[in-house]
Amino acid sequence: MEATATAAASVNGHGPGPIRGLPPGPRMGRLPQTAIWSRRAQWLLEQSRARFGPMFSLKIAYEGDWVVLADPELVKQVFTGDPRVFHAGEGNQILRPILGDNSVLVLDEKKHITQRKLLLPPFHGERMQAYGEKMGEIAAREIESWPTGVPYKLRPRMQAITLEIILETVFGVHGGERMGPLRDALRDFLDLTTNPRVLLPVLMVGPKRVNSIPAFRRRVGRVDELIGREITDRRAAEDLAERDDILSMLVAARHEDGSPMSDSEIRDELLTLLVAGHETTATALSWAMERLVRHPEKLERLRDEVEAGEEAYLTATIQETLRLRPVIVVVVRKLTEPVELGGYELPAGARVTPCIHLIHRDPQIYPEPERFLPERFLDNPPGTYTWIPFGGGVRRCLGAAFAQFEMAVVLRELVRRHEIAPMTQASERPYRRAITETPRHDAEVVLS
Ligand code: HEM
Repeated sequence: MEATATAAASVNGHGPGPIRGLPPGPRMGRLPQTAIWSRRAQWLLEQSRARFGPMFSLKIAYEGDWVVLADPELVKQVFTGDPRVFHAGEGNQILRPILGDNSVLVLDEKKHITQRKLLLPPFHGERMQAYGEKMGEIAAREIESWPTGVPYKLRPRMQAITLEIILETVFGVHGGERMGPLRDALRDFLDLTTNPRVLLPVLMVGPKRVNSIPAFRRRVGRVDELIGREITDRRAAEDLAERDDILSMLVAARHEDGSPMSDSEIRDELLTLLVAGHETTATALSWAMERLVRHPEKLERLRDEVEAGEEAYLTATIQETLRLRPVIVVVVRKLTEPVELGGYELPAGARVTPCIHLIHRDPQIYPEPERFLPERFLDNPPGTYTWIPFGGGVRRCLGAAFAQFEMAVVLRELVRRHEIAPMTQASERPYRRAITETPRHDAEVVLS
């Protein structure tokens, strides 16, 4: 890989100042870079890091110029930077026709903070206990139905578990005749956000015009109808105050001026939680098992500690899984004005991307970074800017505590019930599905 510094040194008349422009990056054009990015993102990141250091540029189609950051100090500057300057919502506009104009994911600045504040209370750490019992029941029921003695792909099954958990804890729907149609409509809706055949037309006609495609409108319309009905019923529910599902809490939530959230605000946030929380958690769970089955002594230790009612090794296993196999490899912030960072004055419009993958592989932070070693977290809690699977700052994943709690519940139920062996000794490689990096063979195992 060859270097081309697109930066032009500027001396500003007062001795050397920051270099105006972008840091160097691979010389190849935007198309080949995008093609490699979509197939071998980790390789491209590692090669570029080795060649250019902890701050380099990539050119990704539709994304403009990325300035990749692999240094915790630079990542800290971005995560603690002014949200008016570092926009995250702008980078998610492709989701707007699907998630709606109120989605916390697509907004920035004041509008973003308004929605985020409304969503925060149900996600506070202490609330998780309320969801724990339901999560455990769902996981146990599902895991008990899995076949033994045959090759079995865990990822689709983990998706079934995380969808069921979202239906119960987020939508507050359990059993009854509504569950089936809602589950089907949500599955169909999720397909819109992960299926490249669907996302491509969105990219081609542009987010503004995608609603003119009848098939698109029909699928979103079906989900809207069913969710609309749930919202109306919940507003009228007499037991609203006692309910602990997230929909009920949003119905009861109030804006600063005392007004309730509108139906479309609630609808947009429910679907946002579904999209942000479903595949991500299922993928992280799949990676946890993909790694554990290839380290039987660690799986054994985990089982022993779970049986003894201990938490520490389980927590460390989850942290190490999210370090070594982060579900998302970068987060993105678009600059609304020029910013000085790492010796460069980056132009407005550039996107800075704290790189989860590279920070997590830095041997200065994590000795022997390629090894799966839950032990490394037993006495060292993860650092705010060195362990970033959930991003950071005012955009940090709202579901981080929820996801880790859910992972703990599911792993506990699984290792208690089954002996689990890998299908092949070779590790599964990461494979890109929409934005998540999943195990190439869907975490295939044999249960006994
Ligand atoms: C292991 C599972 C998960 C991973 C790895 C993950 C990762 C992430 C990442 C990297 C971001 C972007 C952060 C940034 O830009 O700094 C994010 C945002 C978000 N996540 Fe998660 N997530 C997970 C599970 C969940 C769950 C279970 C939920 C909710 C039920 C959720 C809800 C959200 C929301 C609402 C945002 C947007 C926050 C904002 O823009 O203010 N996530 N997540």
